[in-house]
Amino acid sequence: MKIIHAKDYEDMSRKAASIIAAQVILKPNCVLGLATGTTPIGTYQNLVEACKNGDCDFSEVSTYNLDEYRGLDHDDPQSYHFFMRDNLFDHVNIDLANTHVPDGSNPDAAAACAEYDKIVAEAGYTDLQLLGIGNNGHIGFNEPDDHFSAGTHCVDLTESTIQANSRLFEKEEDVPRQAYTMGTQTIMYSRMILVVANGEKKAQAVHDMCFGPIAPSCPASILQLHPNCVVVADDAALSMCEGLY
Ligand code: PGA
Repeated sequence: MKIIHAKDYEDMSRKAASIIAAQVILKPNCVLGLATGTTPIGTYQNLVEACKNGDCDFSEVSTYNLDEYRGLDHDDPQSYHFFMRDNLFDHVNIDLANTHVPDGSNPDAAAACAEYDKIVAEAGYTDLQLLGIGNNGHIGFNEPDDHFSAGTHCVDLTESTIQANSRLFEKEEDVPRQAYTMGTQTIMYSRMILVVANGEKKAQAVHDMCFGPIAPSCPASILQLHPNCVVVADDAALSMCEGLY
């Protein structure tokens, strides 16, 4: 794992966007794995700027997102379909037909997940997978468990995730209890992984991801086994890793 220390959120966002832009420049028709959540918003803002400046051309890029809440329509403002259009897709020159997010509006979980696995595999998996990390060490919605997951599957969100995500909903009861998520094995198939993390709340998870035992109790710890994983994290998120890297 390569750890890149960023001063603060803005610095983390610029550095992460530069790495993604470099991937797009090196391979204009690359396949990007994308993430939602608060952490990558600044990264997306920098990519929008890079696109406007002519430094990053998304016209041939295709994307596969990690996850989606089960039961939300694509136009629901809380859906990750909506988030991606709002934060990135509507502001860059990407062809929307080349963007993919698991279909949370399909109540048939088995069919929705199998279909997503099929299209990610047909795309040859991702060249670069962007990841945030949950306070509990989750990646995508792969929550702490007694085993690592394989392909796309339906998960029951943990109390910790429901609570963390409730800040984005009016009431905690409004947070969907289930989601469809790309599995850990699929994430590991990506040729490169880029994890972004900021803030003190992520310090324990970032420590366990980088230096803890490789165990499904911290799903992100499996990234230690990935041959090309880069972590861009700020001071606060790296505060428990001092002297370890
Ligand atoms: P956050 O979520 O960026 O909103 O903190 C990260 C995650 O849960 O993966």
